[in-house]
This record gives sequence, C-alpha cells and structure tokens, in this order.
Amino acid sequence: TANPQWGGRFASGPAAIMTEINASVGFDKILWRQDIKGSLAHAAMLHKVGLLNETELAEIQQGLSDIAQEIINGDFTFSPALEDIHMNIEARLSERIGEAGKRLHTARSRNDQVATDFRLWVRDAIDGLLDQTSALMRSLATRALEYHATPMPGFTHLQVAQPVTFGHHLLAYVEMLSRDSTRLHDARQRLNECPLGSAALAGTSFPIDRKMTATELGFDRPTANSLDSVSDRDFALEFLSALSLQAMHLSRLSEEIVMWASAPFGFITLSDAFTTGSSIMPQKRNPDAAELVRAKIGRILGDFTALITVMKGLPLAYAKDSQEDKEPVFDATEAMTLSLAAMDGMIRDLKPNEARMREVAGMGFSTATDLADWLVRELRVPFRTAHHVTGRLVGLAEKKKCDLADLSLQEMQDVEPNIHAGIFDVLTVESSLASRTSFGGTAPKNVQHQAQAWLEKLG
Ligand code: ARG
Repeated sequence: TANPQWGGRFASGPAAIMTEINASVGFDKILWRQDIKGSLAHAAMLHKVGLLNETELAEIQQGLSDIAQEIINGDFTFSPALEDIHMNIEARLSERIGEAGKRLHTARSRNDQVATDFRLWVRDAIDGLLDQTSALMRSLATRALEYHATPMPGFTHLQVAQPVTFGHHLLAYVEMLSRDSTRLHDARQRLNECPLGSAALAGTSFPIDRKMTATELGFDRPTANSLDSVSDRDFALEFLSALSLQAMHLSRLSEEIVMWASAPFGFITLSDAFTTGSSIMPQKRNPDAAELVRAKIGRILGDFTALITVMKGLPLAYAKDSQEDKEPVFDATEAMTLSLAAMDGMIRDLKPNEARMREVAGMGFSTATDLADWLVRELRVPFRTAHHVTGRLVGLAEKKKCDLADLSLQEMQDVEPNIHAGIFDVLTVESSLASRTSFGGTAPKNVQHQAQAWLEKLG
C-alpha cells in the first residue's frame, strides 16, 4: 500500500529494499525531542497567524506531549515504512488526534523541518561538549598548579631539549582546548539561525511569522534564503571540523600519556581505574583509555571527510543525499563525549613520578642553552660564537661521560679563557627553570600564575 503521508499519487507501495535504503528512523529517532520542540513552535506560530484555531492548537500540543511520553516510556513504535522521525511523529499525531494533526504540516516541509531539528541537535551537542571541555581544562589547570614547579624534560624532535615544568606542559593543552572551545562557540553562533518556514525550497504563500518561530526555538534570527536554508549543511561540517581539531589535540595528549606511562619514560603511573591487564602477561598495565582516545581522531576526521564528500557535488536545493549528514555527526559527538570524559578521568588520576622526571630533565646536556646565554650575558660573546663555544664544551663533557656542571673551571677556560666560576650557577635544572621568566615561559612562578589565572577564569 502507498505511503499514508505522501502516497496520494502512488498506486502501490515501495519495494522492501526501497523502504530499507530510504528509512532513516533507525538513527534519526535521536532527534525526537528537537522534532517535537520544532513542531510546538510551528503550531504556536500557525495559530498566531490564524492558520490553526484555539482547539486545534491545544489538541496538537496535548498530542505532541503525549507522544513525548510514549517515546520516553518506550511505548512508541518507530516504523521504517514512515521513513524518518519526522513522519513517524506526525503520523502518530494524526492517529491520536485526527484532523488537527493533519494540519500541522501547513507551511512546512520535511526539508526545513529536518534542517531545523538538526541545527537544534548540533547546538545542544555543542553546549554539552563545551561544558565537558571546560571541565577538562579545569582538571588540567588544577594538576598544573599542583606541579607548577616540578621539572620535566622539554623535548624537541623527542630529544631532551631544555627543562620545563610539568605544570607548564599541562597548561599547553589548556591553551589548545581553549582554542577548541572558541571554535565550537563560533560554530554555534553561526549555526544559530532558524531554517523553519523555508518550506520545501522556495518559501511559502502562507502568512507565516518566521521571526516568531526563530525566537521560540532560541535562534537569533530566521535564515535569509530558503534555498540555502534547506540545502546547507556547513553548520554540521563546521562542527565536525572543530571536533577534528579538538580530537587531534586529545590524540597528542593521549600519545604523551602512553609514552609517559611506559617503563623507559616512567614519568607517570595510571591507577587500576584507568589501565587494563594483559590476558597472557601478568605484569602488564596498559593505558588502553589513552590509546582509544588517541584513535578517536580516526573516526572523527573520517566523519568530517564522509560528510564533506556527501555534500560536495549536490546541486541546490535539497537532495536525499543530505540524509547521510546525521550518522557522522552523531558518531563524532559520541566519540568526543567519551574522549573528553576519559581524558578528564586520566588527568585527575595520573600520578607523576617527580624523581624520574627530574632525572631525565637533566639528561642530554639540557642546560647547554643556559650556558650559551650566560656567555652572551656575562662576557658579551655574540650568541652564534657562544653557541659554538658551548658546543665544544658539550663535546668535551660527552667525551668525559660527565655533565656540563662536572667540567672543571680550568677545562672550561681552555675553551673560553674569560669564563669564571659564576657559570656554575646556571647549569642546574632548577636555575634553568627559574630563569625562564619571559612572558609565556616555563619559570615556576609564571606557571603558577597562569594556572591560577585559568582556574579563576574557568570558575
Ligand atoms: N529524513 C530526511 C533527511 O534526513 C528528511 C527530509 C526528507 N525530505 C524529502 N524531501 N524527502 O534528510
């Protein structure tokens, strides 16, 4: 039998496989709250402009609220024959309240309906992820304050470069996450226009009030072009691209956690709560949560790639291809929600091994730059020359298998005769750290202030 919602010109029903490929209700039922909210706003507007009478509006409102209850109670039957969540709810409404239910779709199309529902859903998702991101930033800043003076090796090329503090390292991720937040805020602001009332693609002849529905649904204004309104999905893509960048950041932090927790590094331990054992190797403690967060970028960037590929060749306005917009967004949101929660858990859980980090911080002649800087500052040696002199001293220490601080004054003077004993003051990890007071530098005082400032800002 033909579709009860749009089957007027159809003599018979679709092939089973047609129903199957066409149906989205299996995944878009997650939009039910947004769909009902949108329908309530639309109905109120239709009443205001005289297209629904008082009774009809009341019946629709009651019907939709009963349907919400049915869905919450698990009593609602989602039918693939009715394609999507929009027609499932509308058909049920007509079933429950009759004529009035059939009037709801006046001056509306599923095209503007789905665009509205989906924007509402993405907006909620952004709000949830922003909260989670703030929570993670708070955890990172809390740990950063705790370890603002704890030395650790700073790396470039994964070679020990210069000492930094553990707190400074954690705050680097707070900066990244704060940019991720601004990208989400930005996407939210741009998506916050209401497509409802654009109808199928051309607008409508009914005297609708689009400002009213926009305001009712918390949008800043109605969208300005009906064709754009029903075909645009760049709000979803912008969301996915913001999530891709954020997932990349979380992946980098995860990779560091995995490295830090390994025996050769031994910088941190994760408790039983955030590790798993091996089925064969009894001694193992694996950082699976970090590994999984590290991997989520694969899904999330894949979701972005999937959707932008779906959209790239679509002529205006709506085409059914757009129905493929939802699963990537749902998938990426779920992956990011999980990742943020797991990362927050790990950051609160991890225990730094301060002695080990201090030990490695001093390896690899990590204060060589301090020595070169001292030559510039104290002896007015040009930096390039100082770099060369220091290189020779490093070579000497390497040959003697000792640290820079273990070279005698005489040995140093053999390389640069003006060096005096004051040089030994700048060769320790602690003095190196304390000297990095330039804005944004790793000096413990700086880090302490930054961590405090973040905690204040994050509330
Ligand atoms: N389920 C559809 C989607 O997600 C709703 C819009 C259908 N519109 C149409 N003209 N068939 O895109």
